[in-house]
Amino acid sequence: MEKNSSSILVVDDVPLNLEVMEGLLYKEGYKVLTALNAGEALGMIKEGTIDLAILDVMMPGMNGFDLCRKLKNMSGRRFFPVILVTALNELEDKIRGLEAGADDFLTKPFHTIELITKIRSLLRLRKLQGELDHSEDIILTLAIAIEAKDLYTKGHSERVGTLAMEFATHMGLQEDDRHLLFKSGVLHDIGKIGVDNQILHKCGSLTHEEFCHIRDHVLIGENICFPLNSARRILPVIRHHHERWDGSGFPDGLKGENIPFFARIVAITDSFDAMVSMRPYRAPFTVDQAVAMMDQERYSGQWDPELVVKFIEMMREQRGFII
Ligand SMILES: [Fe+2]
Repeated sequence: MEKNSSSILVVDDVPLNLEVMEGLLYKEGYKVLTALNAGEALGMIKEGTIDLAILDVMMPGMNGFDLCRKLKNMSGRRFFPVILVTALNELEDKIRGLEAGADDFLTKPFHTIELITKIRSLLRLRKLQGELDHSEDIILTLAIAIEAKDLYTKGHSERVGTLAMEFATHMGLQEDDRHLLFKSGVLHDIGKIGVDNQILHKCGSLTHEEFCHIRDHVLIGENICFPLNSARRILPVIRHHHERWDGSGFPDGLKGENIPFFARIVAITDSFDAMVSMRPYRAPFTVDQAVAMMDQERYSGQWDPELVVKFIEMMREQRGFII
């Protein structure tokens, strides 16, 4: 028998059903926790590390659909697989289950092999997602660590990400997009790892070669993150955060709405953070000064003018101004 360390929570209001399921899963080497109702189940989820839940749909009090929805909310970004057990092969139940976020269904009566196959495949998915998250965490941490070495850039990308996320909230974007914008902000300049520090922080004007060298950071960054599956949606931000609304930016000279939306957002939060940060050649602007400058330059061709208006609106709201 294959031994494995995954923990499975089974919730059913019929004790005999729990016993049967516990026996089956135990034989397969899983750790099994059982609960007779949603309240008990929620307590167990808070306490320990459970990898998957099997929920009976028909339960007094909170039913399986509502419990499923609650467990999915509690797990946040981490993939927490839920299998719903239904008595009949009712389409309506399946639709309700899918709406509640269920990952799979089991219809009574079921074969042990069917149960075990579903569990194995969902646990494999959870493991894969965990590994992806891990590599993503490594690269995010690396991006922050690279900057921390330099007085002028310390914390810049994290602030750009945080501000981009706040901006997304202000615009009513979804949680997924807000999170993506945070990561995009953190990673947008990761390609600077491949740029000569002396050129990066040169006080005087740059030669054409030096300028080209700095410009390459968007392509280097894109290459660094390219193999990372979970960063696929971030790549356009890394590549295009220096495009300008008027088409005079780099690397592709994209213009207006051809510039990916998230890249236009990060271009604004990136510029703002640069303005309020110390530079080798100037003192930082205050937030009010930076907001006023962006307001004046909203049609300069650097940024999406409509987005700049929204950004200024957010900054002024945060600081108690009325636009
Ligand atoms: Fe950049």
